[in-house]
Amino acid sequence: MSDDAARIVSVNNVGADEVLGDTTLRPKHLTEYIGQKNVTDNLKIFIEAAGKRGDALDHVLFYGPPGLGKSTLAGIIANELGVDLRITSGPAIERAGDLAALLTNLNDSDVLFIDEIHRLNRSAEEILYSAMEDYEIDMIVGKGPSAKSYRIPLARFTLIGATTRAGSLTAPLRDRFGIVSKFEMYTPEELAEIIRRSAVLLNVEIDEASLMEMARRSRGTPRVANRLLKRVRDFCQVRGEGYIDMKITEDTLHSLGIDKLGLEGLDRDILRLIIDRFGGGPVGIDTISAAIGEERVTIEDVYEPYLMQAGFLHRTQKGRVASPDAYLHLGLTPPAPDSGQLSFIDEDKEDTDHDVWT
Ligand code: ADE
Repeated sequence: MSDDAARIVSVNNVGADEVLGDTTLRPKHLTEYIGQKNVTDNLKIFIEAAGKRGDALDHVLFYGPPGLGKSTLAGIIANELGVDLRITSGPAIERAGDLAALLTNLNDSDVLFIDEIHRLNRSAEEILYSAMEDYEIDMIVGKGPSAKSYRIPLARFTLIGATTRAGSLTAPLRDRFGIVSKFEMYTPEELAEIIRRSAVLLNVEIDEASLMEMARRSRGTPRVANRLLKRVRDFCQVRGEGYIDMKITEDTLHSLGIDKLGLEGLDRDILRLIIDRFGGGPVGIDTISAAIGEERVTIEDVYEPYLMQAGFLHRTQKGRVASPDAYLHLGLTPPAPDSGQLSFIDEDKEDTDHDVWT
């Protein structure tokens, strides 16, 4: 293999561009990867052990909210193993044959990365069972009495699956992953490091205060941090002095409607809806979805994780509830503690349907 870029191969265009996006800021080695220490410390051992045995790494499942670096880490694993990486996503695989074509083109120890693996259709998923367990697939060719079944042996590959919804995976698929890792949101300090590294790669100068400000407003998410940096760079290029300082940072974030804690317009809309129209909750997710005009899964996967992490929202079995901190953040007065409102936050078990391993 010639270089890192050559190792990232897509087959039949099955979604690799959408999965990877802009690759300029992505680290290529474990030593460059910031944060998720629990995940990377263990992976280092498993990668080294597989190398010593001369065998493929066991199948890996990454789960957690979007933008936390799951695809990036899959690329790093392939790079560290010195093998080819094939990239696709659950929705990009329309027929079982698409997946069979990908699988039969893999060489020993290669990595197949499937993003949004919970969205694989049933027939494709069923092919994966024997592929993962026995490194072979059964393909049926033809229809009716003349249909023939062929057993096709596969190379000993590694499947890396990524999902924002661990709870949506079927048990037979989940059970076939030997390594299961949960991705956590990043601390502001880790995000500041990521922004510092990205600023060097983008060749922009930035002061410490601006780094930390962007980090605090990045919702615990590297993808958001890098996006903010790029937008501040744009403002800097047009209105600034050639380097990023607090003024240009604050102006950009204000123009983008991003508040002190990183909440955007839609985050605030969700909290306001719960507070103004439903007395703080509980409100069902489908009601929120209809009122806001955003798909339920987007609210659940993209907006709620940070609102919960920030302590503004609770998922209870009766619905979503805004916390007293949410009121305060929006400049409102929370209900009095003895009013009875909010009491079910403690009474009800948090709704953990979305995440079977937490
Ligand atoms: N870009 C996205 N995620 C990253 C991480 N964890 N470390 C460094 N750069 C990143």
